[in-house]
Amino acid sequence: MSDWFRDAFDEFYLTLYSHRNQEEAARFVKVLGKLISLDNLHLLDVCCGEGRFLRAFGEAGVVGFGLDLSEALLRRLVAAHPASAGRVVRGDMREFSFRSRSFDVCINMFTSFGYFQTLEEELRVIREAHRVLRPGGLFVIDHANPVWVKENLEPRSVREVGDFLVEEKRRILDGGKAVEKTVVIRSAEAPSAVLREYRERVSLFPRYELEKMLEQAGYTVFRLLGTYDGDSFDEPTSCRLIALARTV
Ligand SMILES: C[S@@+](CC[C@H](N)C(=O)[O-])C[C@H]1O[C@@H](n2cnc3c(N)ncnc32)[C@H](O)[C@@H]1O
Repeated sequence: MSDWFRDAFDEFYLTLYSHRNQEEAARFVKVLGKLISLDNLHLLDVCCGEGRFLRAFGEAGVVGFGLDLSEALLRRLVAAHPASAGRVVRGDMREFSFRSRSFDVCINMFTSFGYFQTLEEELRVIREAHRVLRPGGLFVIDHANPVWVKENLEPRSVREVGDFLVEEKRRILDGGKAVEKTVVIRSAEAPSAVLREYRERVSLFPRYELEKMLEQAGYTVFRLLGTYDGDSFDEPTSCRLIALARTV
């Protein structure tokens, strides 16, 4: 399945994932603020989407820049906050246009990773983050915990979201190495008409693999969190796998 990520993140995405909201981002920023000082930081949000983490960090006084591939989401970000126009760039996470050693913190939040066909491409994302970070800079990468995904997989769900009826089918692929989701969106009023249908495929990385990738790219992992509330990572139960890593 090639390059599904080019079309999946549009206006519908914001409706579908409206529960992944500003409040969640603000909670995480508060947690991070207890682990590191957020004073005078320059941050790059790789895959910033419509900018919920940039806003939350902005409220904590952090100067935030963003990169994302989705024109629709970036348009939404800039429409809501015109002042951020000069700080967000449309681009691919495998190759940033930002200068080397220019950020204190780089974040990649809410499963914005694992979209590519080869491990080498995934590693490019991690290496690019390393390149733009100053020595001793912090990389925060927030992926789904594969153990939790497998244990809690709901093969099919249907929900009404605003004017839409959303059917989602999920399955584990490649012996647990990836999860696939097929999304069918219909009008709630006329459900026989399919408005949109697409498929997402996300590679899953067990804790040891993610740590190994980070270490190979020149980071030291110093903390693993399992939720946006700052709970320590616990492989059998944590829904998230959030690695905090410093460039060596
Ligand atoms: C699951 S969303 C998360 C967005 C944001 N981090 C948040 O937490 O709200 C994934 C994001 O990755 C972006 N994206 C997907 N593929 C990309 C790529 N190859 N390069 C840059 N951004 C990409 C999408 O446009 C989308 O905004």
